[in-house]
Amino acid sequence: MSNAVSASSAQAYAQQQAHTLACVILAAGKGTRMKSDLPKVLHAVAGQTMVGHVLAAANALQPERVVVVVGPDMETVAQAVAPHRVAVQTGQKGTGDAVRAALPALNLEQPAATVLVLYGDTPLITSETLRKIVTVRQAADNPAVVVLGMRPADPTGYGRLLRDSQGRLQRIVEHLDASLEERAETLCNGGLMAFDGTRMATLLGDITDLNAKGEFYLTDAVAAAVDRGWSCRVVEGPEDEVLGVNSRIELAVVERLMQARLRRRAMEQGATLTDPDSVFFSIDTRLGRDVIIGPQVIFAPGVEIADRVTIKSFCHLEGVRVAEGAVIGPFARLRPGAQIGPEAHIGNFVEIKKATIEAGAKVNHLTYIGDARVGAKANIGAGTITCNYDGVHKHHTDIGAGAFIGSNTALVAPVRVGDGALVGAGSVITEDVPAEALAVARGPQRTIPGGAQLVATRRPRKGGS
Ligand code: UD1
Ligand code: MG
Repeated sequence: MSNAVSASSAQAYAQQQAHTLACVILAAGKGTRMKSDLPKVLHAVAGQTMVGHVLAAANALQPERVVVVVGPDMETVAQAVAPHRVAVQTGQKGTGDAVRAALPALNLEQPAATVLVLYGDTPLITSETLRKIVTVRQAADNPAVVVLGMRPADPTGYGRLLRDSQGRLQRIVEHLDASLEERAETLCNGGLMAFDGTRMATLLGDITDLNAKGEFYLTDAVAAAVDRGWSCRVVEGPEDEVLGVNSRIELAVVERLMQARLRRRAMEQGATLTDPDSVFFSIDTRLGRDVIIGPQVIFAPGVEIADRVTIKSFCHLEGVRVAEGAVIGPFARLRPGAQIGPEAHIGNFVEIKKATIEAGAKVNHLTYIGDARVGAKANIGAGTITCNYDGVHKHHTDIGAGAFIGSNTALVAPVRVGDGALVGAGSVITEDVPAEALAVARGPQRTIPGGAQLVATRRPRKGGS
C-alpha cells in the first residue's frame, strides 16, 4: 500500500517536473517613441502597467519562475515587477541577446520543461493563448521551439514564418532581411516563442548577428534548431493579442481594444451598459449581477460593485466598494476609501472620500463627505460639507444612524453628531451634538417691517442721474 502511494506521488512529481514552466519577459527596449521619462512598459492600459498585464497573463499559468529583462537604469521597472527577478541587458543587441541575458536567472542547470518568451509591451496577450503554445510545446513530438503565428492585415515589419512543402516551420526571416518572395508570405511571427528548456541555451549559442540590423535575432533559433534536426512548430493566434506599443498613438489603440474587451466581459457577467462605448473600466473592476451603468461612467482602479447597484451617468469611481442596491449619481465622484452601504443613495455633485456611508443613508446633492462615517438611514442635506482639513491635519466626522443634517451645514471636524440628532440648515457645527438633540448654529434672523422699502429708496434708480 505504502509502495503504491509513493509510486503514485513519484509519478505525480515526475509529471510536475515534466511540465515546469519559466517565463522571460523582454522589457529592455527604451521606448524612445513614447517621448516619456517613464519606461515604456510602465505606461498604463486600463489602470495597470503594460508589463503588469503581461505578468498577469503569464502568472495565470503558474510558472515556477519569471525573469523580466530590463535595460540599465530601469530601477522603476524592477520595483514594479517585484518579487519577480530581473536580468539587466546592457546594450540593445537584439531579442536573442536579451534572452541570453536572462539565462543565469533561469537556472538552466535544472531547466524548466518550457521557457516561454513574451514581450513586456504587448498588454493584450491572454493566458488562453499562452496555454495553447505551452501545450503544443509539451506535446508528444517535443518540438524544440514553438512560435505564435498570426496573419496581420499589414505584415510590413514583421518576421515571416517560412515552412517547407509539408508545412513544417524551417526558419523565420525578418522583414528587413526578406526577399520580395519571402515578404509575400502572410504568416508572420507574433513574437511569442516557447522553448524546450533543455535545448534553449544551445540554440541561443548558435545565433549570430550577421543580418540587416547587426543584432542577435531570437527568431534565428528556429533555423538553428532545424539545422540540428530538431522540429519547430507554429500555433496561430489572434493579431490583436500581440499588438505592441511603441508610441502614444499605439497606446491609445491598445487601450481602446482593452476597453472593448472589458465592456464585453461586464455585459457577459450580467451588467447592463446603456452606452458601452462611453464606459471605461480598469482591469480590476469587479461588478456584481444586475448592475446598471449609465453613459459616461469611469472606473479607475480598485472598484468593487455589488449586485443590483445602479450607477447613473457621469460618475467617476476609484478605490471604492459599493454594496447591494445602492444608487450612485448622476455626477457623483467616489474617491479612494469610500464605502457605500446597501441601498444607500449618493446623488449629483457629491464627492465622497475615505468615508463609510452606511445602509440606506442618503447624500443626495452638492455635498463633500471626507474622513467620515454616515450612519444607517441618516439624511445629509444639500450643500453639506465635512470640514475635515485644518490646513495641517485631517480630522474625522461621525454622523449617527438616522441623523438629519440640514442643508448647507458645515461640520467642522473632529466632530460627532449622535444617532437621531437634527442639525438646522445653515449651521456651522463645531461641537458634538448628542443623540436625539437639535442643534442650530447660525446667526439669528432679524426681520425689519418695511425694511425692504427702506433699502429700495436708498438704492440708486436704474438709469437715474
Ligand atoms: C520582433 C521579431 C519579429 C516579430 C515582431 C513581432 C525578432 C528578431 N523579431 O521584431 O519577428 O514579427 O517582434 O512584434 O525577434 N527587446 C529587448 N532587448 C533588445 C531588443 C528588443 O528587450 O535588445 C525587447 C523590446 O523591448 C520589445 C521586444 O523585445 O519588447 C521586441 O523587440 P522589437 O524591437 O519590437 O522587435 P521587432 O523588430 O518588432
Ligand atoms: Mg516590435
